[in-house]
Amino acid sequence: MRRLLELPRRIFARAYSNALVLSLRCKRGLHIGNRVTIKGLPIIDIRYGGKVVIQDGVTLNSTNYGYHLNMFAPVKLFVDRPRATIIIGEGTRIHGSCLHSYASIEIGKRCLVAANCQIIDGSGHDLSFGDVENRINTKGDCHPIIIEDDVWIGANTIVLPGVRIGKGSVIGAGSIVTKDIPPMVVAAGNPAKVIRVAAQVVENMEKRAETPLE
Ligand SMILES: CC(C)(COP(=O)(O)OP(=O)(O)OC[C@H]1O[C@@H](n2cnc3c(N)ncnc32)[C@H](O)[C@@H]1OP(=O)(O)O)[C@@H](O)C(=O)NCCC(=O)NCCS
Repeated sequence: MRRLLELPRRIFARAYSNALVLSLRCKRGLHIGNRVTIKGLPIIDIRYGGKVVIQDGVTLNSTNYGYHLNMFAPVKLFVDRPRATIIIGEGTRIHGSCLHSYASIEIGKRCLVAANCQIIDGSGHDLSFGDVENRINTKGDCHPIIIEDDVWIGANTIVLPGVRIGKGSVIGAGSIVTKDIPPMVVAAGNPAKVIRVAAQVVENMEKRAETPLE
């Protein structure tokens, strides 16, 4: 019975996704590519003339059906200042996570963002220690975030303003990324630190160390 229902479910899901993508093409500030898959209902909130670019083959998943974690909220893409941008590269998959851009959040190709991540390029308020009574009215500074190609961000991770995560790296679940992470490493924890370097990188480093200087 379950198998029998699988095909109509898939056909419905594809039709739903295509219809949603079609309607989103009319949304101001949103550039959406081909072969984009949308599951569930994402929140795409574009204010003050900001821009969201969703490149070809991206998946935005806001439903728990068939996904191996529980996500607690839909995908949210929020650009919140003039000229703020979010760019999601080709073939990237985002599950139930929030990207809030005051300046720029750029995610490369073929990245994976697991559920319940928060990627924010601003803290939301200034520290305002000189005028704490006014903190509540401040919006804080912002610093662009760059996530390079083929990065995998584990569930419940927070990526803070100004961070760059290098190509191919993996961020462990529940991490808080406060500083740049180099390419081809596993980083985890709070604050996220490198816990493993890809064997290829170690080999290259060893080869370079063995090469005599001319
Ligand atoms: C990132 C991850 C893949 C790394 O796996 P790994 O390279 O096999 O890491 P290990 O299990 O060998 O752990 C290495 C060390 O890092 C620590 N560590 C691993 N993941 C960690 C995490 N998320 N936070 C903090 N520390 C972590 C381990 O405790 C271990 O510490 P030790 O050397 O002191 O014993 C894995 O830990 C992880 O987070 N998986 C979940 C990914 C996820 O969110 N998937 C959702 C679906 S897309």
